[in-house]
Amino acid sequence: MTMKAIHQTPIQQAVAFLRAGELVALPTETVYGLGAHARQPEALTKIFLAKGRPFSHPLIVHLASTAQLSDWARELPPEVDVLAKAFWPGPLTLILKKRPEVSTLLTGGQDTVGLRLPAHPVAQALLRAFGDGIAAPSANRFTHLSPTTAQAVREELGSKVACILEGGVCEVGLESTILDLSREQPVILRPGMISAEQLEQALKKPLLFSQQSAPRVPGMDPVHYAPETRLNLVATDDLEGFLNTLTAADLPLAFLVRRQPSIQPEGVHCLMMSEEPRQYAHDLYLTLRRLDQQGFKQIAVEAAPESREWEAIRDRLAKAAGRSRSSSA
Ligand code: TXA
Ligand code: MG
Repeated sequence: MTMKAIHQTPIQQAVAFLRAGELVALPTETVYGLGAHARQPEALTKIFLAKGRPFSHPLIVHLASTAQLSDWARELPPEVDVLAKAFWPGPLTLILKKRPEVSTLLTGGQDTVGLRLPAHPVAQALLRAFGDGIAAPSANRFTHLSPTTAQAVREELGSKVACILEGGVCEVGLESTILDLSREQPVILRPGMISAEQLEQALKKPLLFSQQSAPRVPGMDPVHYAPETRLNLVATDDLEGFLNTLTAADLPLAFLVRRQPSIQPEGVHCLMMSEEPRQYAHDLYLTLRRLDQQGFKQIAVEAAPESREWEAIRDRLAKAAGRSRSSSA
């Protein structure tokens, strides 16, 4: 294939690759995505193969404008307009009933499709120049942490993509909130930094939370969003108790805390995390990914507060810890 880069901007190159059925990594405000032409089944297949992801896990379609929603969804319930005005472009994905021609490769065989208008200027420029939907899961190998820098994408999937668009560190740092509007009542399938409370305020009604553990529910596999290093959660009032139980086999250990423990045994590397959920979310995957490369025997994390604005962080921490339990068993 001759795809000369001369006189082309990175966005133009990326559009040419997408049209040719290649994979393109793109920054979004949540995490980096592994993008493909959402109407090309062969390109979609490449996403699953590159990630090592089961074909039953559906992909999100990214769009430049709300005018494109009806190209993908066969029904737009009134909530869509309200939520689009309040939160798009931004870190919210809506699940809607799909149009018949939308590939079931994209939807994991389901009758619904996930749609999102991202806010990152590079993602927007790419989507506008491309003019159609870009399917993009997080640009990590299956079960790994989502990447929040271009460098992290290079480490995860560098050899599998035609190009990686540089977009700096992702501002939000956690994957989008997913709200299913295809059922009788709206259901949150994955919490994110747009909180249930914000969605309820916009919709003026309470939301349901998904309880089921079918594969369609994002991140419900026990091995999701996890670092390689064993990860343990520690209650805030037990930081010292936990440190006192450590043995040589646990060291060196990295400890992500929001308050400094009163003791600091040798071999324990304490890292102060933010007290503020937005900053904490922004830093979490960056920090875990960095620590994962530093040869610690274990990463311990002070549990997040119980309040609603920490919900997405609690969710991702629980999943990261769940992976560790099963892999150490
Ligand atoms: O922030 C994000 O959402 C990032 C950026 C790149 O946009 N994307 C992302 O994609 O996190 P992914 O594939 O890693 O996670 C999307 C989740 C999947 O776990 C999938 O189960 C769920 O969205 N999903 C997509 N379409 C769905 C559908 N039709 N029904 C139910 N869940 C769906
Ligand atoms: Mg993912």
